[in-house]
Amino acid sequence: MFITFEGPDGCGKSTQVTLLVEHLQRAGYKIRATREPGGTSIGEQIREVVHDPRNKEMDPVAEVLLYSASRAQHVAQVIQPALAEGAIVVCDRFSDSTIAYQGYGHGLDLEMLRSITRFATRGLVPSLTFYLDIAPETGLRRRQQDTSAEWNRLDAQALSFHQRVHQGYLKMVEAEPERWFVLDGEMAPQAVHEAIWRHLLPQLEQRQRRLE
Ligand code: TMP
Repeated sequence: MFITFEGPDGCGKSTQVTLLVEHLQRAGYKIRATREPGGTSIGEQIREVVHDPRNKEMDPVAEVLLYSASRAQHVAQVIQPALAEGAIVVCDRFSDSTIAYQGYGHGLDLEMLRSITRFATRGLVPSLTFYLDIAPETGLRRRQQDTSAEWNRLDAQALSFHQRVHQGYLKMVEAEPERWFVLDGEMAPQAVHEAIWRHLLPQLEQRQRRLE
């Protein structure tokens, strides 16, 4: 089972990934937690380049290809092998981030991005995506106040960019409601986690029955 988390910057995804991973581990599931960009040594090196605030001149197409290169390595080296071993993979961002940020945010052609994404992922699509919704203004304010968070090149984009990303996510949720589950990112982290667990548990039980 391949679970991803998505949402605008500052939506609280990383906290939710940690809470879910700990809960799954306590419940005895074999799990692999990972993130994008990154998740592999090559991917983490790409993350440094793509997020470095000094790389102001980065072209949006180059940006897509860097995220996609990180993803291709990640799918081949980490995600597919973990899924093949029967693990539940929990990933902090995946290809939907490319559609939201480079597609809706930068305005690159969505069909082209879908095609590049299919190539990079070998067609792998998450079975379930948790979307933490938050107003872009609130998300950016949280990021600025969080001294432990890495302030990256994408955070530094104008508010209008983050508003387009947010609207893009809402369109993606609407287009594929069976895969996405929406949560209110302004709720207390524990309440968000409980809603995630309530949604996931029946799917985990169904998966367990199939394996038996
Ligand atoms: P995060 O680790 O805080 O989620 O930050 C990752 C940043 O990278 C976030 O601003 C979104 C951006 N991003 C893209 O623009 N495209 C992508 O494909 C991915 C995976 C991330």
